[in-house]
Amino acid sequence: MSRKLYIKTYGCQMNAYDSARMAEVLAPLGYASTSVPDDADMILLNTCHIREKAAEKLFSDLGRLRQVKERKKAVGGDLILGVAGCVAQAEGAEILARAPFVDLVLGPQTYHRLPEMVAKLARASGPVLDTEFPAEPKFDFLPETASPQGVSAFLSVQEGCDKFCTFCVVPYTRGAEFSRPAASILAEARRLVAAGAREITLLGQNVNAYHGEGTDGRGWGLGRLIAALAELPGLARLRYTTSHPKDMDDELLAAHRDVAALMPFLHLPVQSGADRILAAMNRRHSAADYRRIVDRLRQARPDMALSSDFIVGFPGESDADFAATLALVRDIGFAQAFSFKYSARPGTPAAQMDGPVAEEVKSARLQILQDALDQGQRAFNRACDGRVLPVLFEKPGRHPGQLLGRSPYLQWVHVPAPARYRGTVVPVRITGIGPNSLAGEIEAAETEAVEMPA
Ligand code: SAH
Ligand code: SF4
Ligand code: F3S
Repeated sequence: MSRKLYIKTYGCQMNAYDSARMAEVLAPLGYASTSVPDDADMILLNTCHIREKAAEKLFSDLGRLRQVKERKKAVGGDLILGVAGCVAQAEGAEILARAPFVDLVLGPQTYHRLPEMVAKLARASGPVLDTEFPAEPKFDFLPETASPQGVSAFLSVQEGCDKFCTFCVVPYTRGAEFSRPAASILAEARRLVAAGAREITLLGQNVNAYHGEGTDGRGWGLGRLIAALAELPGLARLRYTTSHPKDMDDELLAAHRDVAALMPFLHLPVQSGADRILAAMNRRHSAADYRRIVDRLRQARPDMALSSDFIVGFPGESDADFAATLALVRDIGFAQAFSFKYSARPGTPAAQMDGPVAEEVKSARLQILQDALDQGQRAFNRACDGRVLPVLFEKPGRHPGQLLGRSPYLQWVHVPAPARYRGTVVPVRITGIGPNSLAGEIEAAETEAVEMPA
């Protein structure tokens, strides 16, 4: 029987990866993906718990889906409604209490058991909840990935987090750090390349804490894993995200110098430029440490571009602390960055801390910080004007005869280019700078295009 599955993904790239894998787990049960929620026989909301707004969004979506489900039931049909991801992990019981029409609640570490849950649901009369942290890693039970992700693919290499930053729910929702063995990562990477991937982004909540079993039986860090992946024929580019400053070790810095496929762009969250706040956040690094790491990255790879995450209004953050953050932003010159108002999360140490910052102050600081970050991003983009950058073409552009690709620095570039260049790296002269993307023209493509094996 053919059934339709709709998955809505909130939150980080790991959730996006998990959503794709959930679809694969459900495919043998006859579920084919649809992009139209009203057509679906099963809807899964893959949720994020990182900030308050994220969880509230879930409950408002659930309210709407309840009506869809009731409409289907009224005409003799049904809709299986599932909540997955980090809100499910943190608030599974509360979800079932507030939204009793939900059928499945599952955490990020149990979705390999979806077929059992669906079978159980068919047998039992009530909802099924599975938010355990199983002893056996889910990766041992997931099907080998087959579904092509396109030119740029994601691959989870590490899960969970042991850092316990005082503001963050991730160590509670994703559980303890776990690194997949290199052999299984290399096998998945080969399958992705065979399915058309030319760029792979290695994912982990704390990806540079990677410490998996190498193919030589020894423990490998991320730098070693990257060097091994770079050997795969057909793979042009590697990236990794998200990293913690504390785990930028020598081997990983050396990979930025030695591995040409490793792109000169790094998302390295700093959160604050004030040591007092960094200590209260339990970040285990100072602002000076962060500056030193960026210096070393730029020694390894002079064109290294940086991205970051910032939190404003952490408990106790003073004007002087905020000024230190702005100073860091000016000094580093981020190519892009994300910034958030501190959001107290239940069960985290920071939620109990003194000195909450007033909402208006948070908003004002966020505005100032975002202006500074926007300015930095514009300056970075402007500096690319007129340069020739290698662009990996990923997909058709907005207009016919156009392709959209990424620069090494993760900028989108619109280029008039033949469709056959999709999946190839081509030198492009940057001719225009937009607010969210660049425009360019192919430079000597016929001689320099790096054609990848089909
Ligand atoms: N693992 C990554 C990112 C985790 S969450 C890391 O270690 O950096 C992504 C970003 O959300 C964080 O970097 C942080 O800036 C933000 N964030 C996390 N918890 C938050 C909270 N309670 N309030 C506001 N922003 C938060
Ligand atoms: Fe959260 Fe900190 Fe772990 Fe990142 S390193 S996931 S911010 S606890
Ligand atoms: Fe959100 Fe969970 Fe990712 S809380 S950011 S979906 S790890």
